[in-house]
Amino acid sequence: MRHERIERLKRKKNAIILAHNYQRPEVQDIAEFVGDSLELARRAMETTADIIIFCGVDFMAETAAILNPDKKVLIPDVCAICPMAQQLTQEILRAAKQEHPDAEVVLYVNTRAESKVYADCICTSANAREIVQAMNASTILFGPDRNLAYYVQKSTSKKIIPVPEHGNCPSHHQIAFEDLLQAKAEHPTAKVIVHPECIPEVQDRADYIASTSGMVKICKELEDEEFVIGTEVGLLHRLEKEAPGKRFYPLSTTAICPQMKMPTLAKIEAALEHEEPEVVLSPEVMEKARKPIERMLELS
Ligand code: 13P
Ligand code: SF4
Repeated sequence: MRHERIERLKRKKNAIILAHNYQRPEVQDIAEFVGDSLELARRAMETTADIIIFCGVDFMAETAAILNPDKKVLIPDVCAICPMAQQLTQEILRAAKQEHPDAEVVLYVNTRAESKVYADCICTSANAREIVQAMNASTILFGPDRNLAYYVQKSTSKKIIPVPEHGNCPSHHQIAFEDLLQAKAEHPTAKVIVHPECIPEVQDRADYIASTSGMVKICKELEDEEFVIGTEVGLLHRLEKEAPGKRFYPLSTTAICPQMKMPTLAKIEAALEHEEPEVVLSPEVMEKARKPIERMLELS
């Protein structure tokens, strides 16, 4: 019933639902598009819909709003705030820039819009290495994820300075090296694929490191039938749907992002019905944050 009401409202209001790969299964199933941060930013820019219901966390919906100043971007639950994005404040960025005046600033898309204003370019987990390589400076201030900074540093001779020093995603950072050893012991023939937000010890022992949609692609393309998946458990729904017959084991069953689970079908219906809560940013932040996001889209 609710499903049908949502479909009717979408048609009536020319609305689409964009959902991140970590969303609840029923939310993924009702979305027009499910993807990683980079794909969602691209989709948000391409759509002809009047309303975008963004099922993800705050920084993703903000990015969609920045790329679509003429559209209504709704976030079904305003409490869906990424804790990692909160770790990089304007004050920390200003101080780091002052200390390293020749460095360029590459910020992970997992930052608040007001921090993006300070970036020379934005990146996602899917393009971080290529974006850093494309920058002119030999020193890069990179934040907020220290683990992603580690992943990028391995591929470049540029100096990567993490800002803040110990930024991380709680859901990925808690996946321990022991989890990896246990998973390998339990599934000795499975390929291990992890997200670059995992700690260095986990990254170093994985077979592949990829963004969430990168993981889906790898699992579909490889002939292997068993995979240990080192990211938020919500991705398993998409993997099981798109690679039926293959077996997927979470590297950690406790890798759950509570904020990503906040959008529900009831909240989506309410958002469509009332056309709120809307993502609202100041015109100044919209304009200044748009440049480094567009630069990323051009470069990758
Ligand atoms: P992806 O861009 O790889 O989907 O990652 C987003 C994210 O929030 C990971 O925690
Ligand atoms: Fe933020 Fe981590 Fe949740 Fe992704 S999984 S939204 S980085 S807290």
